[in-house]
Amino acid sequence: MFNTLVYSFHFLFTPIFSLFLFFLHNLSDSQQTLSESDEQQQNHQLQLFHELCFPSVCGSAPLNKLGTKIVGGEDAAAGSWPWMASLQHNREHFCGGSLINNQWVLTAAHCFPSTSTSNLIVYLGGDALQIPNPNAVSLTVSQIINHPNYNGSTSNNDISLLRLSSPVKFTDYIRPVCLAANDSVFEAGTTCWVSGWGTVAVNNPLPSPQRLQEVSVPIVSNSQCDAAYSGIRKITNNMMCAGLDEGGKDSCQGDSGGPLVSKNVSKWVQAGVVSFGKGCALPKYPGVYTRVSQYQSWINSHITNNQPGFVTFEGDGSVSGAGPLVSFPVHLLLSIFSLFVLSYKA
Ligand SMILES: *[C@@H]1O[C@H](CO)[C@@H](O)[C@H](O)[C@H]1NC(C)=O
Ligand SMILES: *[C@@H]1O[C@H](CO)[C@@H](O)[C@H](O)[C@H]1NC(C)=O
Ligand SMILES: *[C@@H]1O[C@H](CO)[C@@H](O)[C@H](O)[C@H]1NC(C)=O
Repeated sequence: MFNTLVYSFHFLFTPIFSLFLFFLHNLSDSQQTLSESDEQQQNHQLQLFHELCFPSVCGSAPLNKLGTKIVGGEDAAAGSWPWMASLQHNREHFCGGSLINNQWVLTAAHCFPSTSTSNLIVYLGGDALQIPNPNAVSLTVSQIINHPNYNGSTSNNDISLLRLSSPVKFTDYIRPVCLAANDSVFEAGTTCWVSGWGTVAVNNPLPSPQRLQEVSVPIVSNSQCDAAYSGIRKITNNMMCAGLDEGGKDSCQGDSGGPLVSKNVSKWVQAGVVSFGKGCALPKYPGVYTRVSQYQSWINSHITNNQPGFVTFEGDGSVSGAGPLVSFPVHLLLSIFSLFVLSYKA
């Protein structure tokens, strides 16, 4: 209740306040002829005003407290990743996904060797899978669209869209993530976060009550990653990599199809979709993700109403907005990939 009030207050107050500032600024300017930079400034203010009045809904996580913590724990605080989806078949979790608007979920194509939607459930707003949760909803799926050029032997174009049978209502626990726009750049070293309900080690399922796990991983350049995987798999431009270089500290397991996200100023932007990796906690083998920014037009060709929010990401490797780069104690080796392509479990 309190949250709702604060939120509405912010929602109403900021546009009014910025309108006030905008007119104040204009008033003080009215005697002067506008120089070019004044005009630029006004454009900027107009833009700001527009953003405040018509905020795009993606990428906000009101319950995410990462900024106030030193290290994200093993368990993600409830609501930290409100776009996180657990894909379940006959009530059993098999892959992750991310909510990208009120009716579509982004995931990996290798999660769906069959595009039958029967007994398939998308669980949103969840935290611990084994504890009943009033904030969570289970939805059925009306359509699965694997990328037409997905190649199972190369893992290229490992991306898929799920259409929910009905739109979902956004809450503090259920919100869409923004997607990296086609001109995004993710420099090596940029801090990203990955979340999932996967096993905590090879053949070692997430212990009861199966809370959502989170781990932070830096981006690894494609050239470094391609060199690491040489002889195993080609790292294409449609892929990106993230992980710690030193072995034993990298997370290697997780939910395929789940999101790799980073923060652009105030919005969380999905950079990648968990795709594959070699082994578990092996040194020098970062996790490989589908590069979301390559699929803006493909995604928009299928989602024509209420399109997802695409945001340009230009993180320079030092600015993360998502907390410091940290080394993980060994007990934080989270299992993020439950469906490794190289150690398949689908
Ligand atoms: C997958 O990629 C391999 C290697 O490039 C190619 O030989 C094969 O024909 C592709 N398969 C499909 C179904 O496109
Ligand atoms: C990137 O997206 C913009 C806007 O959607 C579009 O105009 C442009 O052609 C796209 N560029 C590429 C390389 O796809
Ligand atoms: C954040 O997104 C906006 C809008 O796409 C873009 O103009 C800006 O450069 C981005 N900033 C960073 C730090 O990525």
